Amino acid sequence: MKDKKCRIAVLASGEGSNAEALVHYFATHQDIEVTLMVSNKEHAGVHARMKRLGIPCHTIGKQEWQPGSAGNQIRTLMENEGIDLIVLAGFLGYIPETIVKAYEGRIVNIHPSLLPKYGGKGMWGHHVHEAVIAANETVSGITIHHVSEKLDEGTIIFQAQCEVLPNDTPDSLAARIHKLEHEHYPHVVEELATRL
Ligand code: GRF
Repeated sequence: MKDKKCRIAVLASGEGSNAEALVHYFATHQDIEVTLMVSNKEHAGVHARMKRLGIPCHTIGKQEWQPGSAGNQIRTLMENEGIDLIVLAGFLGYIPETIVKAYEGRIVNIHPSLLPKYGGKGMWGHHVHEAVIAANETVSGITIHHVSEKLDEGTIIFQAQCEVLPNDTPDSLAARIHKLEHEHYPHVVEELATRL
């Protein structure tokens, strides 16, 4: 066991099923813990999930998550809480350059497609699955990648695939993708945290 546990901040804007999978996975971990959750949406479902699990929740308004923002509030929170690793789990916002630089190699994101396909502006949540189905893809999947200044363009760490079935709807495909995310994201984060 290390002197101090690796402290993770999870960033989320949605329902928080990935955030929950991470919290459960690390709940009894010797060296890694989910310390807090930060959202840019005050009423996102993730707040209730995290509160139920005893994880402190913070909301930082959307003006901090814009290109050109100094990200002072974010940085102060991360520093005060001694955060080692920032894990985006369904987070819809831009990570200010100052934070990307301060946490280089220590910010990861999960995207619900096989990047570089179906990434970039407007490609989030059901929009991704709709586009995949509209293009008659037979395979989709997940990508876990480092966060850089450019949306969905950081170095890819891990990918996993699943089938796209002929009768899939965006919802049925999203459910299959979520299963894959919950299965793999905690392990990939663990590996990364262990190597810090
Ligand atoms: C996930 O599919 C993730 O890949 C994407 O947004 C979704 C968030 O789901 N970025 P949840 O909020 O973790 O349930």
